[in-house]
Amino acid sequence: MDKLDTILQEALAAFAAVDTVALLEQAKARYLGKSGALTELLKQLGKLPAEERREAGAEINRAKDALEQALRARKDAILELELQRQLASESLDVTLPGRGHGSGGLHPATRTLERIEQLFRSIGFAVAEGPEIETDFYNFTALNTPEDHPARSMHDTFYVEGGDLLRTHTSPIQVRYMMNHQPPFKVIAPGRVYRVDSDATHSPMFHQVEGLWIDEYITFADLKGVVADFLRRFFEQDDLKVRFRPSFFPFTEPSAEIDMGCVFCGGAGCRVCSHTGWLEVGGCGMVHPNVLKHVNIDSQRYQGFAFGMGPDRLTMLRYGVNDLRLFYENDLRFLKQFN
Ligand code: PHE
Repeated sequence: MDKLDTILQEALAAFAAVDTVALLEQAKARYLGKSGALTELLKQLGKLPAEERREAGAEINRAKDALEQALRARKDAILELELQRQLASESLDVTLPGRGHGSGGLHPATRTLERIEQLFRSIGFAVAEGPEIETDFYNFTALNTPEDHPARSMHDTFYVEGGDLLRTHTSPIQVRYMMNHQPPFKVIAPGRVYRVDSDATHSPMFHQVEGLWIDEYITFADLKGVVADFLRRFFEQDDLKVRFRPSFFPFTEPSAEIDMGCVFCGGAGCRVCSHTGWLEVGGCGMVHPNVLKHVNIDSQRYQGFAFGMGPDRLTMLRYGVNDLRLFYENDLRFLKQFN
């Protein structure tokens, strides 16, 4: 029984010394557990003479009650402590200044498309759109490009299940437009197009803008005037050189490639223009009578021109961007420069 007081003092000190519930449980086991110090003492009661047993038992039980009470109190204190610790670590200082959000801006590709639309609207063109998943008919056949036509291999086409395809150019928009409108009309068709191609100047998805003007007396001279005037206004250079080079497209005849004077070297020759002084920016031509036939327009009465340009390339040239992929990686450091 001499030990009882020592055990009691030791236990109270041990409870006071820990500050987590787990450590408190360990301390509890050391004194009140199955083989804890106090429990051992109780087990030895039987060895005492009967007259001392009663008194000793009562004393041990008082000590046990005292310990349990101390335990409960300590546990409450620890839980409160832990709560305070958690609250402190998770607290928000609502007086801190905010992180600041920069304002967003339109993507350079969108900016360019809107600018092109605005320039053409100002000379009376309508703007048309169409589906990005097209049928073979609208993308090729109606454009005078039948199944076995070699020009098909110029377009590395993505096919989707069921035989449809991702449009390889925006020309199918014009087919749809011509089927639903009676000439005269002038319209541009901007949109995303897809080809199996990927490097610094080719992306599997890119943009095109096509133009179409059908009326009774529209000539190749009108085509040259509209395209050259557009490019000069787009690049804000009144003396920008524009030239047409003979080319081939199944849906136009005659056809031409559109070149403009290199905006980087002014025609002297540099890396961007491969030292030719010229940059290719699109294709064009007089709409082939077969195409008009496909969409039920009288090719004896009506004629007109079509052109197609790559606005991504125009954007690169206008802002001096040297890698097309930058437009699609969405690096904010790049995009912010256009705000
Ligand atoms: N659709 C053609 C292409 O993507 C471009 C073009 C359009 C050429 C209209 C002539 C007339 O290659």
